Formats: sequence, structure tokens, C-alpha cells
Amino acid sequence: MDKKINKIKEEIKCFSIKTYHDSETFRIKFLGKKKGIITIFLKELKKVSIHKRKIYGKIINELKKEVQKKISIFLSQNEIINEKIQKYDPTIPGKSIEIGSFHPISILKNRMIDIFMKIGFTYVDGREIEDDWHNFTALNIPIDHPSRDMQDTFFLYKDPDILLRTHTSSVQIRYMKKHRPPFRVLSIGKVYRNETISSHSNFMFHQAEGFYIDKKVSFSDLKQVIHYLMTSLFGKAKIRFRPSYFPFTEPSAEVDLYCNSGWVEIMGCGMIDPKVLKNVDIDSETYSGFAFGIGIERLSLIIYNIKDIRMFFDNDVRFLKQFTSEF
Ligand code: PHE
Repeated sequence: MDKKINKIKEEIKCFSIKTYHDSETFRIKFLGKKKGIITIFLKELKKVSIHKRKIYGKIINELKKEVQKKISIFLSQNEIINEKIQKYDPTIPGKSIEIGSFHPISILKNRMIDIFMKIGFTYVDGREIEDDWHNFTALNIPIDHPSRDMQDTFFLYKDPDILLRTHTSSVQIRYMKKHRPPFRVLSIGKVYRNETISSHSNFMFHQAEGFYIDKKVSFSDLKQVIHYLMTSLFGKAKIRFRPSYFPFTEPSAEVDLYCNSGWVEIMGCGMIDPKVLKNVDIDSETYSGFAFGIGIERLSLIIYNIKDIRMFFDNDVRFLKQFTSEF
């Protein structure tokens, strides 16, 4: 009998009640009027001596209480859930989730990548932390060159050789060191300048750099690509090339775009200087190429007709959510 009682005890303990159906099965299994384990046990008790009946009767009654307790715990928990369900009002409007949009700079970046992919350019990411050689020296800007003053940036105190790149032209050097021509490459990313001396209002802005090296690449190819870019962006575009100077291109030019207010300078470009090609071991007798650099913020100002460049960095949602990918 002791064994039987222990077995019942164990079974009660192990039975798991998860649903109302479980709780009914549990109740019938132990307390069912005809076949309930405890009911049968109580019936059998009548056959044993009064002394034993008293002892076992007490124990089995405890087990009966345990069964009832287990059921009522389940039912009371269920009541709480039911109460919650009753209080839940499915007619209350849901909390709306704001749908974000791309930053105008990202939209233009993606658009330019699409435009250049159509004419066989590969997109590469550059690094923002550069060393002096890739940002200046290899681009024919030696340490004492005056154009370094125009591109003052952030240097590391501990190692002045490390700096935040001042232009994406450093990507040219990194790419040309690793790859052999022909190639057409586009890279877009952040560049940094000392805001007190730069014509840009911020210490950081975005630039797109494109370069193309092959046999017989000429200035007319450069003009055609710039024209293609401008008409892709603006539909009809009036542009002009103005002679200019960059240490890493020869000849060099600045491109102006005609807007309602007159001519706006939008980019620098030119034929890659043979000295630069030599720095990356590309034979300038066999190969020639062009490069250009465009400020993305300035271009976005024109495309979106935005009055103040600082709005790009204010993070004002009312401003940012006005832009969609299609324009
Ligand atoms: N790196 C130049 C600048 O930031 C732009 C440029 C790129 C000019 C490529 C010529 C060729 O001002």
C-alpha cells in the first residue's frame, strides 16, 4: 500500500496542466467517480483493518486535497488571463510606427552609383583614416606644398602621419596600387577639413571620386562622362569647364553648372598627372586617365533647392522625411 501511495503522489506531482482540458483529465484521472485512482483507493480501504484504514485514510485525503489544490491554482491563473482578455479593447487604434526615409545625401549617393554602373564603373569604399602618403604625398602634394594649407585636417597628436582624409582622391592611390589598368572606379564617402579655413561650412562633407585609366583615355572622355552625369541628374544641364589647378591632375579644370542664379562651381577634375601614375607603378607612356571629385552636399542643395547646407546635419525629422528615393 505504501508503494501505491508513493506512486500516486509522484503522478500527481508530475502531471502538468497547461489547458482546461488537461485540468479535467487530471481531475477525472484521480477523482473520477468510477475509475478515479483515489476513488478506487478509498473503496479498497474499506477492506482493511480499522487501524490501517485510519492511517491510510488520512494520507489519501491529503492527496485528494493536493489534487484539488493543483486544479484550483490552474483555474485561478486562468481567471487572471480571462480578466485581461476581457479588459482588452481591440477597437483602440494601434500605435503607429513611423516609416523612415533615406537621408538626401544617401539618396544622391545611391543614384550616382546607379548612373556610373551603367557606364561600367565599379564602386569601391575607401577609408576615412588615412596616412600622409596616400592623402598628400602620392598625389604630388609634398610636405611643403601650399595647397596643403587649404586642406588642413585632423591629425593624431601621437602620430602626425595619421589623419582624417581631406578628399576622396586618396582612394585613387589605394586602388591603383592594388590593381592594374584598365579600370573605371567610383567611390563616395566622408572627407574632413578644418572648417575655419575651408569654404565648406562643416568640418565634414561627402565627396564622390571617379577615375578611369586605360590606353588612350583623353580629356574628351572626361568631358563626355561629366556631361553624362549632369544630364542624368538634371535632365538638361548647361556646364562649362574652367582651367584650374590641382597638383595631381594636368591639365586640370573646374566644372560650373548653370542654375537660376548663375554659374555654380560643382567639381574639380583633370587628367591624372604622370607623376601620380609613377608613384603607383603605372606606366604613363602606355596609360592615361582622368579623375574628378564632386561635393555631394553642394549637388544636393541644387537638386533639392535647399537654402542652407547645415540642414543636412541638423537631424531635424521634419526636414529629413521630405525626401524619397524617387526624384
Ligand atoms: N580632390 C580634389 C578636391 O578635393 C578634387 C579633384 C578630384 C580634383 C579629382 C581633380 C581630380 O578638391
